[in-house]
Amino acid sequence: MNSWPHKHILTLSNFSKEDFKIVIDLAHKFKSVTSADIKNLPSLKGFLITSLFFEPSTRTKNSFELAAKKLSADFLSFHPSSSSLAKGETYLDTARTYCSMGSNILIIRHSLNNSPFEISKNLDSNGFKTSILSAGDGFNSHPSQGLLDLYTLTKFFSPINLDPNILFNKTILIIGDILHSRVARSNIWSLTAFGANIVLCGPKTLVPEEFSNFLNYDNPYDLVDPIKDRGKISISRSLEKSIKNADAIITLRLQKERMKEDFLTSIKSYCNDYCLTSQKLDICEKEVPILHPGPLNRDVEISSQIVDRYPNCLINDQVANGVPVRMALLYLLSKVNLGFKVI
Ligand code: CP
Repeated sequence: MNSWPHKHILTLSNFSKEDFKIVIDLAHKFKSVTSADIKNLPSLKGFLITSLFFEPSTRTKNSFELAAKKLSADFLSFHPSSSSLAKGETYLDTARTYCSMGSNILIIRHSLNNSPFEISKNLDSNGFKTSILSAGDGFNSHPSQGLLDLYTLTKFFSPINLDPNILFNKTILIIGDILHSRVARSNIWSLTAFGANIVLCGPKTLVPEEFSNFLNYDNPYDLVDPIKDRGKISISRSLEKSIKNADAIITLRLQKERMKEDFLTSIKSYCNDYCLTSQKLDICEKEVPILHPGPLNRDVEISSQIVDRYPNCLINDQVANGVPVRMALLYLLSKVNLGFKVI
């Protein structure tokens, strides 16, 4: 394994192909070890990992906790409703408090775009060694989801070699509320890295035309893109038309909590046009894999029939793969944290 360059994991826009491959390979090793009846590995014994979730979560929060425990780390979990936020403490001072308690890694979910980045800058400039891992900030970034989706699709298309280059020239259809989706943004960075072409499908209000230029200007960290030959992004308003040639489909939830105005004339007309149903899936020329990051709104963005009965529905695989992928991320950050080179 080559060296791991990231002290913090805030975005996938600065990941090289090699970085993605390191995570996938390591996650795969953790997956095989932990499914072979080996309960816990001692790798992070003595490490303190803290989860700071200022927004609700089921999958991300609990799978990070499970990942940390499987690596024998100590784990602190912050609960906003019973914390000193109620007394006016800021999220930044909350983060600094946990660093002063000796946290080696802070896993942060917050509704504000770039808040984990702001915390990392503040901690770095104040001499803290703590690594920051974004577990989802606003509609900006959800790196661990982008990585577990990359792992899940790679494993589907290349189960033996686990080679993400298998995604080259595949068409990945992402349907729904792209505007408010940090998952869509992280998926775009991870999947185009290996030459997948992305079709974003939805109404104008939720998939503005500007998204076709996303890769050219939407790098919030002013970083140089390490990948020069990314796949392309296109926009479609018609699910019926775009589904025909899809190689994989990712459906997304309507993020009502992030909508500050009315984006839809009615949920009924949205469902008619964009809910993925067996009927619409019949148009597809192949038996494509279907993903959804969760939580689901059954029969709004995806039908119950697909969730429960479609053989290539990978939603449960995504959840299961979230644990080894997050183990890999914690392991890699722990090595940076101690000043080790990962070799
Ligand atoms: N996919 C995802 O982020 O789910 P949670 O909100 O349950 O963590």
